[in-house]
Amino acid sequence: MTESIRFLMCAPDHYDVDYVINPWMEGNIHKSTRDRAVEQWQKLYHIIKDNATVDLVTPAKGWPDMVFTANAGLVLDNKAIVSRFFHKERQGEEPHFKEWFEDNGFAVYELPKDLPFEGAGDALLDREGRWLWAGYGFRSELDSHPYLAKWLDIEVISLRLIDDRFYHLDTCFCPLAGGYLLYYPDAFDFYSNKTIEMRVPPEKRIAIEEADAVNFACNAVNVNSTVIMNKASESLQKRLADAGFSVIQTPLTEFLKAGGASKCLTLRVTEPRIEEAHANVPVESRVIQLKGHLLDAGIMNQALDLIVEGGGSFQVIDFNLGEQRQSTSAARVRVSAPSHEVMEDIFSQLIDLGAIAPPEQVCDAITETVTLAGVAPDDFYVTTIYPTEVRVNNNWVAVQNQRMDGAIVVSGDGTEARCCILRDVQVGDRVVVGVDGIRTNRKVENREQLNKQEFSFMGAGVSSERRVELVVEQIAWELRQIRDRGGKVVITAGPVVIHTGGAKHLSRLIRDGYVQALLGGNAIAVHDIEQALMGTSLGVDMQRGVPVRGGHRHHLKVINSIRRYGSIAEAVKQGFLTKGVMYECVKNNVPFSLAGSIRDDGPLPDTRMDLIQAQTEYSKLIEGAEMILMLSTMLHSIGVGNMTPAGVKMVCVDINPAVVTKLSDRGSVESVGVVTDVGLFLSLLVQQLDRLTSPYPVSQSV
Ligand code: ARG
Repeated sequence: MTESIRFLMCAPDHYDVDYVINPWMEGNIHKSTRDRAVEQWQKLYHIIKDNATVDLVTPAKGWPDMVFTANAGLVLDNKAIVSRFFHKERQGEEPHFKEWFEDNGFAVYELPKDLPFEGAGDALLDREGRWLWAGYGFRSELDSHPYLAKWLDIEVISLRLIDDRFYHLDTCFCPLAGGYLLYYPDAFDFYSNKTIEMRVPPEKRIAIEEADAVNFACNAVNVNSTVIMNKASESLQKRLADAGFSVIQTPLTEFLKAGGASKCLTLRVTEPRIEEAHANVPVESRVIQLKGHLLDAGIMNQALDLIVEGGGSFQVIDFNLGEQRQSTSAARVRVSAPSHEVMEDIFSQLIDLGAIAPPEQVCDAITETVTLAGVAPDDFYVTTIYPTEVRVNNNWVAVQNQRMDGAIVVSGDGTEARCCILRDVQVGDRVVVGVDGIRTNRKVENREQLNKQEFSFMGAGVSSERRVELVVEQIAWELRQIRDRGGKVVITAGPVVIHTGGAKHLSRLIRDGYVQALLGGNAIAVHDIEQALMGTSLGVDMQRGVPVRGGHRHHLKVINSIRRYGSIAEAVKQGFLTKGVMYECVKNNVPFSLAGSIRDDGPLPDTRMDLIQAQTEYSKLIEGAEMILMLSTMLHSIGVGNMTPAGVKMVCVDINPAVVTKLSDRGSVESVGVVTDVGLFLSLLVQQLDRLTSPYPVSQSV
């Protein structure tokens, strides 16, 4: 027996499964057998006693989980940080454990109220005493970690738990003597696994499979080379033996029903530590401000969700609720992250939601200089569709050419900033990196606008005919207004427009001046011309709706003919092509761009097979657009969406709800989705436009 090693245990006098606060307890209320529990606990007690000294805390009636002394607190040297339980079901244990620590000469530390931390269940010392591994995600709050570091003067490494079956760190993670680590990697997020791998060399990592993990193999007590646990598979026993450990298995099934096993039932009160280890905690905190329709527009939810999903935690410092429907709310939130890297990740997403740093923390944006053409600095800020400003020399500078997925380049004198796609960054360009001094402006979305969006965005399935009609009425009205004030509408269309009989309607729109640019691929042009010249679209007779014999060759004949003319425009000029969408474009001087793809036949001479050139053409044609109609083409619509700043109304029409959802996911109020047949949509649209006499009815003079 090792006299100097001491453990604290609590006899199971009042143990039972009385409530459900973890998945193991589900379906197990009052299902554990008292006699068996007592017998299993006694066995464990004796095994530990053979290896160390065991102290006992008096069990308190009404607190059935008090047997799990690992959750009493965290002990190092003569200091004890008492737990603050997350669930009220266990909060009554706190005074009992506190009393024991005090009676046994520990200096007791207490965390602020409402800052949960569940003791040694979520904080495990490296067995060499080099640092403290601390878990968060379910029971303990990340913000408790800096306290641990400060009070115990030790480096804390935060690990995020993501599987609710492994809600405490000690259920899936067990540091062993000699720098070994027994753990279940799937219980941790990606970043935490990376952290573990950086600290523990591969030959020291004993990663276990789910089958062992659910037997609580990681919930083991390690005393020197002995490892005491509920159960281990043959292979795990062998691996532990190879690493020099002898495994003692002792069944603890009655305690598994409450979600605990040997480690949970003990608290080591003598922990080793090395002198050189000192306080250090990479946990970072920052305060952000949010303003707007935080509740109505769901911004608050989104912000808090993305903090937690990103591996951070938050504390809402204040929330000023706007009381009227039109008034906005403001909130300040403290965000914590386990490292700088994670913080930057979370922060950049918060910026996209419109979050800003509080005035006293605002600083200039940081830039780095490009050293390789077409390659931005690693940490570059990735732009969104929302109007963005960067702070340079104490001034906020509006970013030009806003689009998503670009970098921000600041001019040499710091007076200008613009979005630049990666391939266009030049050596010497100053690119904004990190998350400081950047703010985006999310247009205020209020309840009315959101409801409108919901109404017009036909969420699930195919929209009812009446609803399609209503959306079409609205779009027709806007189209008419834009045309009459000389505005710009861009259409991106797929070949389905032609296959569904929409060619004549789209031609009408172009002829009547409703379209200022057309974007698409090789196919829409090919099938439009095929229909104009041969009456078929992909070999289907457009009058009768049946395939014609040999029709599949039609489009190749058409491509070949246009190739002979050298361009669509030339074919029109020479009187070969006399109707259809492409014809109307040429006749009405509506510029078009056809972007090629791997599956293109031909292609037509006009099709840009150089995609960089095609992207450039597209973005030129989109400039200044007020509305973009996206007609049944996922590929081109997404391409266009990426180049388009917020504020441009996008109408996406597709029979496939998934495409509509994807496009509307830009999260801006301006997007409208219509799930319907595009041919039908266009015909309704033209009808509706015909019905509109004038957008500004002339008032009768008296
Ligand atoms: N029923 C207890 C709870 O959910 C079990 C605690 C297990 N303890 C531990 N250190 N993992 O809190």
